[in-house]
Amino acid sequence: MSDEKIYDVPADWKAKAYVDAAKYEEMYARSIKDPNGFWGEQASRIDWIKKPTKVKNTTYDPHNVSIKWFEDGTLNACYNCVDRHLPKRAGQTALIWEGDDPKDDKTITYKQLHEQVQVFANVLKARGVKKGDRVTIYMPMIAEAVVSILACARIGAVHSVIFGGFSPDSIAGRLEDCKSTVIVTADEGLRGGRKVPLKANVDAACDKVGGVNTVIVVRRTGTAVNMEPGRDFYYDDLALTVPAECPCEEMSAEDPLFILYTSGSTGKPKGVLHTTGGYLLYASMTHQYVFDYHDGDVYWCTADVGWVTGHSYIIYGPLSNGAISLVFEGVPNYPTTSRFWEVCDKHKVNIIYTAPTAIRALMQGGEGPVKKTSRQSLRLLGSVGEPINPEAWEWYYHVVGDDRCPIVDTWWQTETGGILITPLPGATRLKPGSATRPFFGVVPEIVDAEGKVLEGATSGNLCIADSWPGQMRTVYGDHQRFIDTYFKTYPGKYFTGDGCRRDADGYYWITGRVDDVINVSGHRMGTAEVESALVAHAKVSEAAVVGYPHDIKGQGIYAYVTLMAGEKPSEELRKELVQWVRKEIGPFAAPDLIQFSPGLPKTRSGKIMRRILRKIAEDEFGNLGDTTTLADPAVVDDLINNRQNKK
Ligand code: WT7
Repeated sequence: MSDEKIYDVPADWKAKAYVDAAKYEEMYARSIKDPNGFWGEQASRIDWIKKPTKVKNTTYDPHNVSIKWFEDGTLNACYNCVDRHLPKRAGQTALIWEGDDPKDDKTITYKQLHEQVQVFANVLKARGVKKGDRVTIYMPMIAEAVVSILACARIGAVHSVIFGGFSPDSIAGRLEDCKSTVIVTADEGLRGGRKVPLKANVDAACDKVGGVNTVIVVRRTGTAVNMEPGRDFYYDDLALTVPAECPCEEMSAEDPLFILYTSGSTGKPKGVLHTTGGYLLYASMTHQYVFDYHDGDVYWCTADVGWVTGHSYIIYGPLSNGAISLVFEGVPNYPTTSRFWEVCDKHKVNIIYTAPTAIRALMQGGEGPVKKTSRQSLRLLGSVGEPINPEAWEWYYHVVGDDRCPIVDTWWQTETGGILITPLPGATRLKPGSATRPFFGVVPEIVDAEGKVLEGATSGNLCIADSWPGQMRTVYGDHQRFIDTYFKTYPGKYFTGDGCRRDADGYYWITGRVDDVINVSGHRMGTAEVESALVAHAKVSEAAVVGYPHDIKGQGIYAYVTLMAGEKPSEELRKELVQWVRKEIGPFAAPDLIQFSPGLPKTRSGKIMRRILRKIAEDEFGNLGDTTTLADPAVVDDLINNRQNKK
């Protein structure tokens, strides 16, 4: 380990943080030895209507996976994020909203949030929404996105938030899966000076699936949009017609809180289902300890509320802790590449939590745009979404953080609800590129291909040995798929889909997905989804999609496309296919490189050999491994000779 850089915990952090190194070891050991005692105590960090007497009731037995935490407790998540803070901090800022245009901003206090959430909840109720109903939310990053999410939680409706970058087809698939009849959207979104036609996308989605009877439209840009009489309503009109007060619904700890769709290696996106008690407790606890959040800190998570990071670390974690949470509508490079740091200076941000892809993109612009800003308010830097390469880590640390701020590289997944592997800033010595050590209650295991648990310094597939309160409970409507996806590969363990190395100090280094999932700028995608979008095009007969290393995006999308007989490859068709995928899935799924290939490497039984395609896309074709099972070896030479140039 001698050539490895280690950054010690700064002395001031050791002194003031909730947890130092000794306390981490002690709390961690207890959490593993006595989960019922540990989590039973933690339960009191949130407010219950009826306190739970039971704590953990979980089994990973692949015949009968069942995960329940605090099952006899009742509570309301919105109450915990809003109402319970009113006695002490009604006048404190809950949300700082920073618009796409630097001239637009506003703050919302806990009292105002309380008022707005109750009205929104009553609007939903007036449109017939009841406990257990699914409400789809397709919103830009405006305060009403947060308000509508909390309003659902208040009345016990299950929110299904869809990221504003998804296409009408993707919305339609999700609507159909969760059978939601109510959609909350905005006329348009605004990102990087460009308008996003949210309402028009919702209209197109509703044309594809039946069942939606209410579309609530929040005015963002004020542009005129199509309004279907009887179905579409402006939020501000409805808000005038409802009472100001709305009580919180009493929910069981295991009642669903939300569904969030995420991609896997096969099939359609899965509806990851999170429930109320364990999720909220875990989001709240990780937010407090990982970011060492203290009263009054200004905390900014740059994610979109459409992803799990936004759910857990813009909304549920911070607000349950009474935090000041900044909601940013824009992008890192608009109007200039100093924007992130200007926002930090303007709002005196203490903690920023962002993605490696943003850091790498800003790195390309050099130090100038960073160094012209002060950033003196920053104390802690966070990273999430994909492995952070050591170069980007060092740049974040030295250039953005002026060597002063620890970095918490947090590993987790939509499925995990909250952070599982991470440094604690007052406790953990940092190694650039490592997510370091497990959070309380988390037991990572590294297994080989046969499922044998490997000890000590090693590498293999990352599993988690036992349940934690924030874990997903099921795939919405398909419990068998939940079991098959996560608990069958290595029976008795939760399989993450990630590869991982553990070093001699017990530090974890996530190496990326080992399944057919790719991570492009922190957006998770199944290669199968991009493939089915491509083959839906009339001129495409077959497609295979793999990831390749990309300087900024982490992974780029490399598509091998075989055309229908008689169709000719051309630059025009290449562009057409890129546009096609943007339209089918969303702009972030557009292939970076398309190689027209007359054939794909297949086994004699017709299975595409993706391993070979991956190697060629990675320019590692000198080392293709075993090719003896190929039906037609000549195909490979053609693929190598016509591979796409990365630069
Ligand atoms: C996948 C989960 C968790 C919120 C955002 C993404 C990768 C995530 C890290 C990290 C290395 C990471 C993994 C994981 N990932 N964070 N700090 N270091 N890899 O959630 O869309 O469910 O994606 O993102 O591959 O499995 P998601």
